[in-house]
Amino acid sequence: MPTPPPNIAIVGATGAVGREMLAVLEQRNFKHRAIRAFASPRSAGQQLPYRGTTITVEALTDAWPSGIDCALLSAGSGISKAVAPKAVASGTVVIDNSSAFRMTPGVPLIVPEINMHADTANGGRIIANPNCSTIILLMAATPLHRALGIERMVVSTYQAASGAGWQAMEALENESRAVLAGQPHHASIFHEPYAFNLFCHNSAMDPTTGLNAEEQKMISETRKIWGDETVRISATCVRVPVLRAHCESVNITLKKPATLAQVRAALAQAPGVQIIDDRASNTFPTPLKATGGDDVLIGRLRADPSQLPPNANPDGSTPTLGFDLFIAGDQLRKGAALNAVQIAERIFN
Ligand SMILES: NC(=O)c1ccc[n+]([C@@H]2O[C@H](COP(=O)([O-])OP(=O)(O)OC[C@H]3O[C@@H](n4cnc5c(N)ncnc54)[C@H](OP(=O)(O)O)[C@@H]3O)[C@@H](O)[C@H]2O)c1
Repeated sequence: MPTPPPNIAIVGATGAVGREMLAVLEQRNFKHRAIRAFASPRSAGQQLPYRGTTITVEALTDAWPSGIDCALLSAGSGISKAVAPKAVASGTVVIDNSSAFRMTPGVPLIVPEINMHADTANGGRIIANPNCSTIILLMAATPLHRALGIERMVVSTYQAASGAGWQAMEALENESRAVLAGQPHHASIFHEPYAFNLFCHNSAMDPTTGLNAEEQKMISETRKIWGDETVRISATCVRVPVLRAHCESVNITLKKPATLAQVRAALAQAPGVQIIDDRASNTFPTPLKATGGDDVLIGRLRADPSQLPPNANPDGSTPTLGFDLFIAGDQLRKGAALNAVQIAERIFN
């Protein structure tokens, strides 16, 4: 007998990621039976639009509801740590968007296009969704790593407000309005004023390494997803006053010299990415172009002049080790909701 479609619970359904989960489930026509939406008691009774009707938000309680096959968690790591063990014990597959279990041994950290072969059998268990900047980076870097071998990456991020939830988006709008109305810059949500400013990512700073948590996640999670503890990454993660979609400047060093044509060919065949790279019209990836889309956009593809061999042709036709690219991805979609739903699709649909 075929397995019936799953009953789904979204925890954190009123948040930036949770709302996007509903949108993605609807757009992709994910096959399911009931769908239940949970949030804090503040939101109980709120109506969320879904497939021409509405779902009533329920307050999450201590008891995990019975009969849920798949839980999509996006209410922060504290809630995930409290909810996931109970859900797993009742046979639910938990797909967790928080950082709570990403580095836990035995918990697969999955980007479906990259490592869906990692054990994701059905039945009560936890699967972790990687950090949003890491997913966006690896959608572009993995095809290059597989085709040409990456020795080292230097990454600088330009991270949008939406990565910190709906309150950060609202804060950016409100601070911007205040400054445009002539009021002094003020910090309302982050440690620095957000409007018309940019600053070191707001995650916890390690005083010993000088890395913020976002930078550390990019290093550790890449190693776990690629299954290679020797991967070398230097990252600088920055919050920028953009409402939605993260960008990243990526400098890669390959293990063996390659041409720019080989780099382009590796990316052209990769799933879930789109090349936008028109030098003549200065048209490249931007957060606005990435917003609302599923693909990670890749452009500014070029040979790194600092690594070109002597007398090399600067157009990338001489094999060289270094390349630069600029990428943009909607981190509420591929960096969170879309990636989680793609995992659920591979398991249940
Ligand atoms: N934003 C991103 O791009 C992104 C990307 C990857 C991963 N994530 C992760 O996804 C999670 C959610 O992020 P977000 O950006 O969607 O945050 P958000 O917009 O602030 O939403 C938070 C959600 O959690 C719910 N919540 C808060 N406290 C709760 C409680 N005690 N019980 C039940 N629900 C509670 C909120 O419900 P109320 O509305 O009732 O407060 C809301 O639905 C975080 O772990 C974040 O790290 C986010």
